[in-house]
Amino acid sequence: MQISIRSDSTVVILTGAGISAESGLKTFRESGGLWEEYNVYDVATPEAFAANPELVWEFYNKRRQQIINAKPNDAHRAITDFQSRFPGTFVITQNVDDLHEKAGNMNIIHMHGELNSIKCTSCSYSRKDLSPVSGIPVCPECSSPLRPDIVWFGEIPYHMQDILRLLSTASLFIAVGTSGTVYPAAQFIEIASAAGAETVYINKEYVKCHSSQFIQGSASEKLPELLSSIGAYNV
Ligand code: OAD
Repeated sequence: MQISIRSDSTVVILTGAGISAESGLKTFRESGGLWEEYNVYDVATPEAFAANPELVWEFYNKRRQQIINAKPNDAHRAITDFQSRFPGTFVITQNVDDLHEKAGNMNIIHMHGELNSIKCTSCSYSRKDLSPVSGIPVCPECSSPLRPDIVWFGEIPYHMQDILRLLSTASLFIAVGTSGTVYPAAQFIEIASAAGAETVYINKEYVKCHSSQFIQGSASEKLPELLSSIGAYNV
């Protein structure tokens, strides 16, 4: 199906762990994924941090170390090329790595936070920091424990107002490399579709979804193919 949109269109690309898999970062729910190695309720909830902050920091320290040398792949790079033709393209990512930034993508919204940021559990202090954390670091302003700046289960994702505004104005919505199991991101495709967007889903394995088009395959192959096939027209 050939897609053609105005060059000033709003385009939303929702990414999940699958887009980073070919850069060597583990997904969550596949065999061998992160949630097989760790129980999500032990490391990714505010209650887990209160009960065992050492274990939570151990989990995120490992992941922080892994992203230092991770390199973006062709899927991330294809977004940069696409944005030079369609500057109204926004990347809403569930990923907490920095591969979209490393690839030169613009307009990136990290709805689940970022591994390279840490924040205070009490006050508004936060800082960009990827250095290894030993023990439980404390806030330089109020001495409370510092935690990874990650949106945990039971917490509200970041930038939801901006996201809902983008979904309601998008001409095209593309989801790539996500199992579509975590809300609210899992619902974005329906929201965008109901507001009139063309919708495409790219994933390695079949996902039951409401998209007008489903493309099965790897993100690094299928996303560049799709994005380069999208035509632009001016009015
Ligand atoms: P999942 O691990 O749930 O799903 C990743 C999807 O990517 C799977 O459906 C794979 O089939 C697919 N996949 C794997 N490799 C791929 C490739 N090379 N190309 C295309 N697709 C590929 O990860 P997410 O959907 O991102 O939240 O998970 C959503 C949220 O759940 C995460 O942000 C995280 C997690 O718990 C928090 O930690 C708050």
